[in-house]
Amino acid sequence: MPNILEIVQPDDWHIHFREGDMLEMVTNYSSRINNRCVAMPNTKVPITDSNKAILYKNKINKASKDKFEPLIPCYLTESLDINDFRSGIQNKYFFGAKLYPSNATTNSKYGVRQISNIYNLFEILEEENSTLLIHGEKVSDKIDIFDREKYFIDDELQIIRKKFPLLKIVLEHVSTAYGVKYIKQNKNIAGTITPHHMLLTKRDVFISDKIDPHHFCMPVVKDESDLIELRNAACFDNTKFFLGTDSAPHPIEEKKSNANSKPGIFSAPCSIELYTQIFDQENALNNLEVFSSINGANFYNFSHNDKKIKLEKKDWIVPEFSVYKNIKVKNFYANKKINWKVIN
Ligand code: DOR
Ligand code: ZN
Repeated sequence: MPNILEIVQPDDWHIHFREGDMLEMVTNYSSRINNRCVAMPNTKVPITDSNKAILYKNKINKASKDKFEPLIPCYLTESLDINDFRSGIQNKYFFGAKLYPSNATTNSKYGVRQISNIYNLFEILEEENSTLLIHGEKVSDKIDIFDREKYFIDDELQIIRKKFPLLKIVLEHVSTAYGVKYIKQNKNIAGTITPHHMLLTKRDVFISDKIDPHHFCMPVVKDESDLIELRNAACFDNTKFFLGTDSAPHPIEEKKSNANSKPGIFSAPCSIELYTQIFDQENALNNLEVFSSINGANFYNFSHNDKKIKLEKKDWIVPEFSVYKNIKVKNFYANKKINWKVIN
């Protein structure tokens, strides 16, 4: 295998930019690699109307030096202005819509408690051939944290798909073999896969009597058997699975204590390199480009990117932190060696 790999420029179909200085820092990292990015709308004040989406897109555009296209899904709630929602979808101020079940993850308290209350919004998405992006976890005291994805699929997603068979759905950050199988077996549904769900298992998070806050994310990473199926889906199954890093930075202060640590893993400084290393380990480098740069565009009916990026097979160590202005974030894979690096 050659030491230089050239692939069509990737898109990141799931990433968190946040706001202010953090947004500038994330934009620097992400626009270095990607052409398009789906910027998650779970900001502190969530992006629930067209005006907020336009402003947010402008902020990211302003922060990026290179050509870069942020795409902003609408944060679904049970009290959206339906006319604004429709026109936001029609005018493409919104890039589809994101369903956060209430209290499933960071800044999801305004999310949806009862999914049947937003069927009118799903109807609009289906009519407009737009996309529903889903954080697929069912939250309940009765459900083990490791089973949330399965319960969401069985109890919620099945019903949504039955009622809206033509609705295009992306099950974000698939984390289980069960989720992979479900996507493969059903129509109009695809999945994004993060690097961390292909690198970590629950043993990397729950370590004897401690939790590693830097490996804590939602959905939580699962078992070895899940990791293997995710790797197979990304590296060999193709078409229905594509790149979505779910890179989700939290300032170091918010990751300190085990008890109050916010879920989220910050992989933006090394995500394409991690994906490349994973594909290399699986002897699937030939399939990297389809996963990173083609499948997502095809699913969303976008053209493929014109530019290319180059990666070189050479070792480098991921720095421990990203520091920008007053912000300090611990990087995923901190102090570890990666054997691929993007070059210009
Ligand atoms: O771990 C996560 N962090 N999962 C999510 O779904 C949200 C994200 C965040 O915004 O921090
Ligand atoms: Zn996310």
